[in-house]
Amino acid sequence: MAFPSDRPRRLRRTPALRRLVAETRLHPADFILPVFVREGLSEPAPISSMPGVVQHTEATLLEAAEEARDLGLGGIMLFGIPAERDAQGSAGLDPQGILNRSIRAVKDRVGNDLPVMSDLCLDEFTDHGHCGVLDSSGSVDNDATLEIYAQMGVVQAESGADVVAPSGMMDGQVAVIRQALDEAGHQDIPILAYAAKYASAYYGPFRDAVDSQLQGDRRQYQMDAPNRTEAIREVELDLAEGADMVMVKPAAAYLDILREVAEISDVPVSAYQVSGEYALIEAAAANGWVDRQAVVMESLMAIRRAGATNVLTYYAAEAARWLR
Ligand code: PBG
Repeated sequence: MAFPSDRPRRLRRTPALRRLVAETRLHPADFILPVFVREGLSEPAPISSMPGVVQHTEATLLEAAEEARDLGLGGIMLFGIPAERDAQGSAGLDPQGILNRSIRAVKDRVGNDLPVMSDLCLDEFTDHGHCGVLDSSGSVDNDATLEIYAQMGVVQAESGADVVAPSGMMDGQVAVIRQALDEAGHQDIPILAYAAKYASAYYGPFRDAVDSQLQGDRRQYQMDAPNRTEAIREVELDLAEGADMVMVKPAAAYLDILREVAEISDVPVSAYQVSGEYALIEAAAANGWVDRQAVVMESLMAIRRAGATNVLTYYAAEAARWLR
């Protein structure tokens, strides 16, 4: 008697057989490396809540970009930390500001071999830390912010960004940025829209990474954790406004959302394994409670399996080296 008749274990017997039937694979080109560059820094500055991640100087940023290129990463995402902040976030619009000049420097260094992406948001540039400018009552003024985003998009494209990535969750941001880019002759610059971005406690370490000045939270503009249908609406709106790629963020705690978005999106879907996801793995690994490399790779595999075309991850370079 042959019992049981179904034996899925047959295809798991050897590593080679498992490789043959793997439904999801990881490749360095799947990974986008987020990097922080801080104005006026003479040495890279460690970020205490993100062990192994630094605020780069303008010089070490270029080394990180070269490494990312040499590893064949999918891209690099730049976040700038200015020396001076103000209520309007003006340093974000200054072509000589830290982010825009870093885009230019990285682009000069890596050319077309590594897509250079820029965070398009005001929170690193405002003295109040919000993603937009404030109205007289102290709330973020959606439409006044849109005008600034449109200009930021053009300045970033002019600085050499291959992709601009609006992350502020203002209503209508993709449409105004698309229109401004087109009018300025940048019809070929794609928009990676942070479409379903949740107000998340998992961003905690990022706030250290950018020396955020934020008091309070972003719950009036980022999405609320309980909501699923609303994520679909956000994605559909961004697609209708012309998004070339859409993002779900964070990743691990929102894999259900990622799956649903991947099912309805007819453009590539990115997922952001955020600072808090990184910090959790690092903390457990530092205590010897998990196998660091195995957990990192499993977390990335899970994000890809859920439907991400590519993953923004602080592990991008390391994971690419492990895949060699
Ligand atoms: C906003 C922005 C944030 C992150 C990426 N872009 C912070 C926020 O929305 O509060 C978080 C990334 C991370 O936690 O790794 N410019």
